[in-house]
Amino acid sequence: MAQDDLLMPVPLPPLVQEGLAKSFNLIKLWEERDPEAVLAAIAPRMRFIATGVPILADGVSYPISAAVVARFPKLELVANLGVGYDNIDAGACAARGVIVTNTPDVLTEETADTAFGLLLCVIRQFPQADRYLREGKWLKTGFPLTASLRGRTMGIVGLGRIGRAIARRGEAFGLKIAYHGRTAQADAPWPFYERLEDMARACDILMVSTPGGPATRNLIDAKILDALGPQGVLINIARGSVVDEPALIAALREGRILSAGLDVFAGEPEVPAELIAMDHVVLLPHVGSASHATRDAMSALVVDNALSFAAGRGPLTPVAETPWPSRPEKAH
Ligand code: GLV
Repeated sequence: MAQDDLLMPVPLPPLVQEGLAKSFNLIKLWEERDPEAVLAAIAPRMRFIATGVPILADGVSYPISAAVVARFPKLELVANLGVGYDNIDAGACAARGVIVTNTPDVLTEETADTAFGLLLCVIRQFPQADRYLREGKWLKTGFPLTASLRGRTMGIVGLGRIGRAIARRGEAFGLKIAYHGRTAQADAPWPFYERLEDMARACDILMVSTPGGPATRNLIDAKILDALGPQGVLINIARGSVVDEPALIAALREGRILSAGLDVFAGEPEVPAELIAMDHVVLLPHVGSASHATRDAMSALVVDNALSFAAGRGPLTPVAETPWPSRPEKAH
């Protein structure tokens, strides 16, 4: 039997390519000499797309916009590598009955580890202390004392699965926890703040773990940073777009907040020179989920979603905007 076509517009990891190539006729758009001509030929019949957020696709971006969705009249599934799917207009997919899947759960603990490691590095300045030792400065005198995690309150912006895993770590470290999001969650034992500014005022660590996209663009602006205050620390492991970067740089430069730990940036992999020049911030190259084991599990989930869907068994992890009718318990 002829295999179904599957369009892969961006270079996903070998595990995804090999896994899908076993069951689909894979069209690797980035390898095509004339991608436009290929698209013109295949778009009218294409039912399946596998794509990924740029950090997981060698930095290559192919936004699945409403216009792209409209170009594929037979499209049924967009399987995304990444828990975030701000590279996909999920609303446009929902309006057309196209299912979108992402890669949740398998990266939750890894990403929460990254968030907490980043927080510790920022507060206790471990990367700076490492540099200090290597530069031979310890031979002259000890490393300066730092701020402390003791007695702090961590406000989590976006209490999803990753936010909750960070909250659990926070509790184990003796932090007080609060959260802000669209709605209070009945099973969350922590204080809920309807207004982000109120939470920022009540805490001295702001942990950003909310989805990216238009709804959260520049959510963390000068007003929120001023509410966080001069002892405040901002950690962002979500998307660069959630933070107003120029406002953050100004707040850091003027000492209106204490420090920041950033795993994501608005124009990544470009990082503003002003941030790179600041010794008191900690900057990571978007490594939230970047272990072999976790990235492999994410790759496997993309393949499993596509195989399950194409076999008529439905998607395994559809996103909230495109729930799968016969598997409502899996929708999130
Ligand atoms: C990475 O940023 C992801 O969305 O999984």
